[in-house]
Amino acid sequence: MRHATVYIDRQALRYNLNRVKQLAPHAKIVSMVKANAYGHGIKDCLAALETTDSFGVACLAEALEIRDEGYTQSITLIEGVFSQDEMPIVIEKNLECVVHHAQQIKWLLEYKTQYITQKLKVWIKLNSGMNRLGFKPDEIIEVIQQLQHQGFHCVLTMHFANADVPDHPMNQRQIDQLITIKTACAPIEISCCNSAAIFNWPELHFDYVRPGIMLYGASPFAEQNIHQLDLKPVMRFTAHIMALNTIKAGEHIGYGSLYTAKTDMTVAIVSIGYGDGYPRAFIAQNFVALGQQLFPIVGRVSMDMLAIDVTDRDIAIDTEIELWGHTRLVDEVASANGTIGYELLCRLSNRPIRKVIS
Ligand SMILES: Cc1ncc(COP(=O)(O)O)c(C=O)c1O
Repeated sequence: MRHATVYIDRQALRYNLNRVKQLAPHAKIVSMVKANAYGHGIKDCLAALETTDSFGVACLAEALEIRDEGYTQSITLIEGVFSQDEMPIVIEKNLECVVHHAQQIKWLLEYKTQYITQKLKVWIKLNSGMNRLGFKPDEIIEVIQQLQHQGFHCVLTMHFANADVPDHPMNQRQIDQLITIKTACAPIEISCCNSAAIFNWPELHFDYVRPGIMLYGASPFAEQNIHQLDLKPVMRFTAHIMALNTIKAGEHIGYGSLYTAKTDMTVAIVSIGYGDGYPRAFIAQNFVALGQQLFPIVGRVSMDMLAIDVTDRDIAIDTEIELWGHTRLVDEVASANGTIGYELLCRLSNRPIRKVIS
């Protein structure tokens, strides 16, 4: 059997959710479970998140997965609806919508009676400089007043473009804009903190925080690892050694023959590749873990296999290797590959077997 396994540790997920509660004791928690719970498997994660106040998802299909599992907490569609035909389902399934565009207001108002009867909230998105979604500061006050006047319960929301870089000058500009709008629309509920912002600015937790990556035990910061943040990794990604080869100095390894052995060496072939979601590039400083030790990857990663240098080590076929998890953190693999932990977690394929540790 090919051993390529993703272990999901629900205790770690519970621990990280409790970390959010510790850091933001007065805010409600919207646990971000979009993109299949950042690649962890939404169904496997929900049970460990049952004490969250709410869930955040990117689209209706993701919200319906949660409702189909029987969870009744509120769910926010953080990009709102994409078309008018989603509105009746939003109402039927008791979902909350972000409103970031005039078109969405039109759709909302057409369903106003039913929506308000159920006393649901709408989250009005401020574009404070990220220029992705939202109303500009000079238009949002009117939007909020209009919706409040129509009887909606409005939450003012925004997203930081640089929360992972606490002293980035854009942060203060975004905060200033939020506070100006908050003051103009008072009293109004507010939500602006993702994981990095939860750590950076306790004074900005307001009514709802929206943790994502920290729940899964990866770091939102390049300069601080999860041990420094007191988070636990939820995912452990492993594979086994399927072959051991000796190669002579001067011989090459893998596609493109990019790696040339400087001396005679022993190479272990591990049953994992980019078809499973491990990054393909051949990077000089890329490692996997065996126990507490790190072993360098040699040559380009293939679709189903990669090679590691195990010269002078007493290692047998079928030994388990950790791609990321406890010894080798996903953030370290990401950084070696010029990306972020978020991307590696989200782009895992469904080929590895999934096992839940409760
Ligand atoms: C609007 C919004 N809020 C919160 C989050 C969670 O961010 P993080 O995973 O950095 O905590 C995201 C993630 O992309 C988001 O788009």
